[in-house]
Amino acid sequence: MKTVDNLNFAGKRALIRVDFNVPLDKKTLAVTDDTRIKAAVPTINKILADGGSVVLMSHLGRPLKKLKEDGTVDYEKHSLKHAVAKTAELLGRDVKFVSDCISEEAFAASSSLKAGDVLLLENLRFYKEEEKGDAAFAEKLSKHGDVYVNDAFGTAHRAHASTTIVANYYTEGNKMFGYVMANEVKNAERVLKSAEAPFTAILGGAKVSDKILIIENLLSKANNIIIGGGMAYTFFKALGGKIGNSLVEDDKLELALELIEKAKQKGVNLLLPVDSVIADKFDAAANTDNAASNNIPDGWMGLDIAANAVTDFSKVIRASKTILWNGPMGVFEMEKFQKGTEAIAKAVAEATANGAFSLVGGGDSVAAVNKFGLADKVSYVSTGGGAMLEYFEGKELPGIKAIAG
Ligand code: 3PG
Ligand code: MG
Repeated sequence: MKTVDNLNFAGKRALIRVDFNVPLDKKTLAVTDDTRIKAAVPTINKILADGGSVVLMSHLGRPLKKLKEDGTVDYEKHSLKHAVAKTAELLGRDVKFVSDCISEEAFAASSSLKAGDVLLLENLRFYKEEEKGDAAFAEKLSKHGDVYVNDAFGTAHRAHASTTIVANYYTEGNKMFGYVMANEVKNAERVLKSAEAPFTAILGGAKVSDKILIIENLLSKANNIIIGGGMAYTFFKALGGKIGNSLVEDDKLELALELIEKAKQKGVNLLLPVDSVIADKFDAAANTDNAASNNIPDGWMGLDIAANAVTDFSKVIRASKTILWNGPMGVFEMEKFQKGTEAIAKAVAEATANGAFSLVGGGDSVAAVNKFGLADKVSYVSTGGGAMLEYFEGKELPGIKAIAG
């Protein structure tokens, strides 16, 4: 994989696609989680240390899809100017900002950069051309740098102008990956291509439909697949269980049975949570109880895995040498339903301390390891949500293909 290590950037201007799609405080619009900005710092610093300058470009949210009530674009809420202070703080230097991507002003700003300067462009998605992968827009963007660096793993599954098409306007030697991209790929490959057995995949979250492709791909790689979260109840219903008001995808019942059957054929141990913490409503203040996951009373719903499931899952996790975790075990945002996810996070951390390689990815599971203070106790935390999922589904990501070929 060709990275920024393969080039000396002295006197060069690098156009870096970063993923600064970070959460902002609803009121102050300050960055509330700087993980993705922090992740990009080593790539930026390498280029600056060589004597280069840097133009950063990113999207933030989905401004043309999430319109204001009056139908207009909320430019204020989606402006990357809110990321300037945090970026400057993490880099320990000034960061210039220009309130557009391809205006005369933007090109004047990028062409006047000196060695050591950093410029951040405004949100790429203020242009509909970005998501369309428009060639003319991509070509204009390419004028911002002598070299194109893609370090936006989180957006590598999008064939957008700045993530994919822009690479067409650079010669072979002038396009490469940053360290975020290189690390993400290296760690994902370690799990997908050279996992030490036993390899356990822990999959959670609300919907089976989001996880079908990853389960299918992992059925030929993993030794154990642990299913938790809301999606488990589709499996229980498919098996003839009573699930009360729990989440269910009725059009996926047959598929759930097929996955169980395929796992059997392939000798994969597919684990479902035998018991659940149940609630009488979806509410932080709900009344709670425990029940077998296939015998949940009418009017109640499973919102977390319970003690026996935690014991089963933890035992398998602790004995694993490779662990992939995507998706929480329950509604861990609510205190009453966080214990299952917390216990699984602890088991993953314990296995890691005993020599396992663990990779955690996907917005919710990353938020969970952060919440329980365990992010530095797992081997690798991915910056990718959808991109990580698609990678583990076995898909080729357009942002990677555009450079790696
Ligand atoms: C993400 O947060 O998933 C990435 O930044 C990609 O954003 P998108 O899902 O809006 O394309
Ligand atoms: Mg997404």
